[in-house]
Amino acid sequence: MEMLVNKKVLLVGASGGIGEETLKLLKGSQANVFITSREQSKLDDLVQKYEIPAHQAFVLDVRSEEEVNAVADKIHQFVPKIDILINAAGIGIIKPIEDLSSAEFSLTLDVNLKGSFHLFKAFLPAMKTTKKGLIINLPGVLGKTPMSGASAYAASKYGLNGLTKSIREELRRTEIRITNIYLGGTDTPFWDEIDLRVNREKFINVKEAARAIWFLCQQPSSGVVSEMVLQPFNHQAI
Ligand SMILES: NC(=O)c1ccc[n+]([C@@H]2O[C@H](COP(=O)([O-])OP(=O)(O)OC[C@H]3O[C@@H](n4cnc5c(N)ncnc54)[C@H](OP(=O)(O)O)[C@@H]3O)[C@@H](O)[C@H]2O)c1
Repeated sequence: MEMLVNKKVLLVGASGGIGEETLKLLKGSQANVFITSREQSKLDDLVQKYEIPAHQAFVLDVRSEEEVNAVADKIHQFVPKIDILINAAGIGIIKPIEDLSSAEFSLTLDVNLKGSFHLFKAFLPAMKTTKKGLIINLPGVLGKTPMSGASAYAASKYGLNGLTKSIREELRRTEIRITNIYLGGTDTPFWDEIDLRVNREKFINVKEAARAIWFLCQQPSSGVVSEMVLQPFNHQAI
């Protein structure tokens, strides 16, 4: 297992259900964690709860390339590069196509797909200087398989799948690893606003989802875990 002590980890979307549970585990392993949220008040809470230096917490909307680049510049003033980038930011708008607006479709792609693109662009160059690093994305099972009502979400996550796999081809001469974790339904606030009859008790427990991400962070760099799938027993979609 790879030691996480003092590893520089950027956790984008640290305020989310999966993000915060992952943060707990990373801090417990003495990783040096940088965090983001769109809201300063959420960052303040996380900084206090998990004893994160305030200068390592950033307000960030991944839709803005300028904001992502500014965060990368600030982080690279403290550390030459991030060892592990975890992108746990994302939104889910689940509606039948006739109810889905063009604005909602664009928003979903802007956050889930273009936001990921901005992060790659901002953090890969520094990783490339040492040819080492790990980037963990969360396409989810809807990045591989369709679901009724998920046209925008699946489009963004299938897109993320293609984006990451293509970039992986460009990194063949480096030891920069890209891991996609495909989680099935996980019980987080992600589902609070989604108008769908689901049994959240049968979902993956968010602690288990975070533990899977934490496990991925600890894989030795001699090999690549390119994919991991974790699904609820009652809904094994892939
Ligand atoms: N829950 C599931 O069933 C499930 C399954 C498979 C994959 N996933 C994926 O896992 C990731 C995390 O999901 P979750 O369940 O933890 O969701 P969540 O609890 O709703 O958290 C979402 C996170 O995304 C951040 N975020 C949203 N829009 C953003 C933006 N424009 N810029 C920057 N950050 C933004 C939120 O931060 P602020 O609101 O603080 O800015 C929050 O930290 C998502 O990519 C989701 O698609 C979830």
